[in-house]
Amino acid sequence: MGKTIFSLADARSLAKKRMPKMMFDYIDGSAGNEIACDLNCSALQQVRLLPRVLINTESRSLGKKLFERQWSLPFGIAPMGMCNLTWPGADEMLANAAKHYDIPLVLSTMASSSIETTRSRAGEHAWFQLYVGEAEEVAFELVDRAEACGYETLILTVDVPEIGFRPREQRNGFQAPIRIGPRQFFDFATHPQWSIRTLLNGVPGLANVSPLGGSRKFHRNENRGKVDWRFLEGLRRRWPGKLIVKGVLGAEDAVRIRDTDIDAVYVSNHGGRQLDSAPAAIQMLPLIRAAVGEAYPLLFDSGVRDGEGVIKALALGADFVFLGRPLLYAIGAAGNQGLTEMIELIVRQIDIALAQLGCPDIEDIDASVIIGQ
Ligand SMILES: Cc1cc2nc3c(=O)[nH]c(=O)nc-3n(C[C@H](O)[C@H](O)[C@H](O)COP(=O)(O)O)c2cc1C
Repeated sequence: MGKTIFSLADARSLAKKRMPKMMFDYIDGSAGNEIACDLNCSALQQVRLLPRVLINTESRSLGKKLFERQWSLPFGIAPMGMCNLTWPGADEMLANAAKHYDIPLVLSTMASSSIETTRSRAGEHAWFQLYVGEAEEVAFELVDRAEACGYETLILTVDVPEIGFRPREQRNGFQAPIRIGPRQFFDFATHPQWSIRTLLNGVPGLANVSPLGGSRKFHRNENRGKVDWRFLEGLRRRWPGKLIVKGVLGAEDAVRIRDTDIDAVYVSNHGGRQLDSAPAAIQMLPLIRAAVGEAYPLLFDSGVRDGEGVIKALALGADFVFLGRPLLYAIGAAGNQGLTEMIELIVRQIDIALAQLGCPDIEDIDASVIIGQ
């Protein structure tokens, strides 16, 4: 098959065509009126970069350091639950890509692949993302499993005290594990390619939080409001590796997290999937950078749709950027080939932009590339 993805829009529209509406809406949908999600993208689009000329950019470097380690690219794969709903084996494709491109992959608590399997697929590129539900013991069991099989980096997601109200999921009857009633049956029947492939491989479930993966169940819709400063301090004492807190938008929160001996703050509004009135994550990033100081590690996601978006986030204060929906659209569009095409596209976009900006080394990107900063 020839190349099919030349832009994010190509991947999104192909995925929309191929996937049942319920599955596409799970990825594409957001909270409420989906304003926060749109705002993430439009705010990033509004940021303009200043081209510079007459600088030798014949050879360029995209490698980025984070936590005393050199990564080959400045971005990683954001934690996303139930990726295998886009295409059977999506989790495995992401793990292989992380290894191949030498980038971090964050495995979600809600993944369809186990903590252990992912570690063996992606090695040290695999990080683990933790959700904490009503029973702390379930969370600690996951943390212990991650530690036992060698994970070095743990991300605690704190912006889901309750799962956001997402109208598209409600309308389509989306649930985890998936239940198939008459409406879903019709949706699947009208997308036979996806349905046959998925049914032949077995409808994906939750690999880490089912009774098979742990001792107690974790429900997608259960209250997760237990996670507070006391919990974070306890987790810090318990986890020996790098600990990151994801889903932070407030500068005051970021400073307190830094002062709780946490290794990095992950600035994100969950892609607009939680609070529809939340600000665009990119708008808060420079404020958080100013508050935590130059040297403190900041990770970023929400609304990055291309290579120039990666550069903008780095310029506005991020040390490392994570990609979410673009990778799932790409897999939904064309499986592993789609994923490879999307990663290659973003790498190419970053590389070309570095040339235009007269900045051959991505480590040198700073606020001076942004017009109006
Ligand atoms: C389908 C989907 C599932 C997600 N699942 C999780 C999850 O399990 N844990 C988590 O911390 N974030 C989750 N997120 C949020 C992403 O990690 C990330 O913050 C978000 O996708 C960024 O927005 P963007 O994809 O629009 O750029 C999910 C996002 C999507 C699209």
